[in-house]
Amino acid sequence: MSNDAIDPARRTWIGIACGAGAIGTVATAVPFISTFSPSERAKAAGAAVEVDIGTLKPGEMTTVEWRGKPVWIVRRTPEQLASLPKIDPQLADPKSLRKPGELTPEYARNEHRSIKPEFLVAVGICSHLGCSPSAKLQAGAQPSLPDDWQGGFFCPCHGSTFDLAGRVFKNKPAPDNLEVPPHMYLSDSKLLIGEDKKA
Ligand code: FES
Repeated sequence: MSNDAIDPARRTWIGIACGAGAIGTVATAVPFISTFSPSERAKAAGAAVEVDIGTLKPGEMTTVEWRGKPVWIVRRTPEQLASLPKIDPQLADPKSLRKPGELTPEYARNEHRSIKPEFLVAVGICSHLGCSPSAKLQAGAQPSLPDDWQGGFFCPCHGSTFDLAGRVFKNKPAPDNLEVPPHMYLSDSKLLIGEDKKA
């Protein structure tokens, strides 16, 4: 069971884990970069969201809201991209073969799970019970993560981990990779979340 909600007063997305009997209840709040305008009501109803990624530097991440969900955009460095194939043996679904129609649009069924290799676009909701994982983009040993960590995301609710392509590691509670939402590039610096060329 999950309970994901927008708090209109504070403009934060709250991911609340995760049902009675789980390891406690954990809430994470992710501030959004945008503020509400009248058009936000249309967005909440499902309209596509335009994002300016022109100022996002390699190694940086931003979060936008689409259909009440956090969508992460990560600009991966060349080193981070190079690490992806090396991680494959540690992953549950390295080639994104599970639920492809639901989780990975055809144009993202590749090693980097994206249209442009450097940009990851993924819905930041854990495929276990719906918490929002924390970004752990830096490589290297750190609390709750393996010593050979290459950067990715850590779900504090029950310890699932995802790589920098949103692919879930083996033997974790989360069964599936993170969802890549429909999206397309309107220009080099403009991304549209929620629509693609087939929509
Ligand atoms: S919600 Fe349980 S590991 Fe993410």
